[in-house]
Amino acid sequence: MTGPVVVLSRRLPAAAERLLAGAADVRTPAVDRPLTADELRSAVAGADALVCLLLDRVDEALLEAAGPQLRVVATVAVGYDNVDVEACRRRGVRVTNTPGVLTDATADLTLALLLGITRRVGEGERLLRAGTPWRWDLDFLLGTGLRGQQLGLVGFGAIGRAVAVRAAAFGMSIAYTARHDAPADVTGPLGARRLPLAELLESSDVVSLHCPLTPQTHHLVDAAALRSMKPTAHLVNTARGPVVDEAALVAALDAGEIRGAALDVFEAEPAVHPGLLGRDDVLITPHLGSATEQTREAMAVLAARNVLAVLAGQEPPTPVG
Ligand code: DGY
Repeated sequence: MTGPVVVLSRRLPAAAERLLAGAADVRTPAVDRPLTADELRSAVAGADALVCLLLDRVDEALLEAAGPQLRVVATVAVGYDNVDVEACRRRGVRVTNTPGVLTDATADLTLALLLGITRRVGEGERLLRAGTPWRWDLDFLLGTGLRGQQLGLVGFGAIGRAVAVRAAAFGMSIAYTARHDAPADVTGPLGARRLPLAELLESSDVVSLHCPLTPQTHHLVDAAALRSMKPTAHLVNTARGPVVDEAALVAALDAGEIRGAALDVFEAEPAVHPGLLGRDDVLITPHLGSATEQTREAMAVLAARNVLAVLAGQEPPTPVG
């Protein structure tokens, strides 16, 4: 098909590719793996639109390689720290992301991690798989219950709020940090209180991160933040790895400054800090927040709709900025 050229950095679920193919010349990658930066620069030359993933770095060099006809960069993720939005803006390139459609999946995974780390699910599973002798006992592998515990949410956007709803159903009390008070119809039913970050870190039993990665949130959870948490507290991160200083986290766990951590995201993905790997007080999953079949299809279809809207001269459904 002729028409505007849409370059995909990775094959998309069929529904999204079909949608794009109805209105554009869709160019798919020749290899079944993420493209290197060089490969992506070659692939994007002459594109009117780029659909990319959170692993793809969209920077000046990539935009230059694409050429002046590029009109939209649609990332298939809610987080867009991989995209130099300012550089795109300077060149008149729209940037879009995929909020909303992954809220439930990410909140569900957050609860899975929260329950998993506080009830030592990974540790118990590893013990059985290793064939370690065990028997039921009154004090065997005890975790902490959630009822009456405070969940401190760092960031109270859609995902933070969806986590709050779920955690409240488990009997947790909810605190959050955000620049502004959330609306009363959100906080009221949850009894959620806004706290300054320092107070939230000091007083929460579980701290769960739901902020974007920005220069301000890079290493927001550093050695000092970890030291200020309760020694009984757990940290959960389903946001972006670099929000946590992983070396400081390992040191804090070694020093008993917090009780455990559950992480779905890492500072240098796909690498995981070696100090986290051998620990029973850490639960790790490989960036699975939005990883359900339904969600990934919905994300890709939303990215496709964003592309088609921009190419048709319309406002995209979910622009960034
Ligand atoms: C996102 O959309 O930002 C998620 O991290 C993808 O799983």
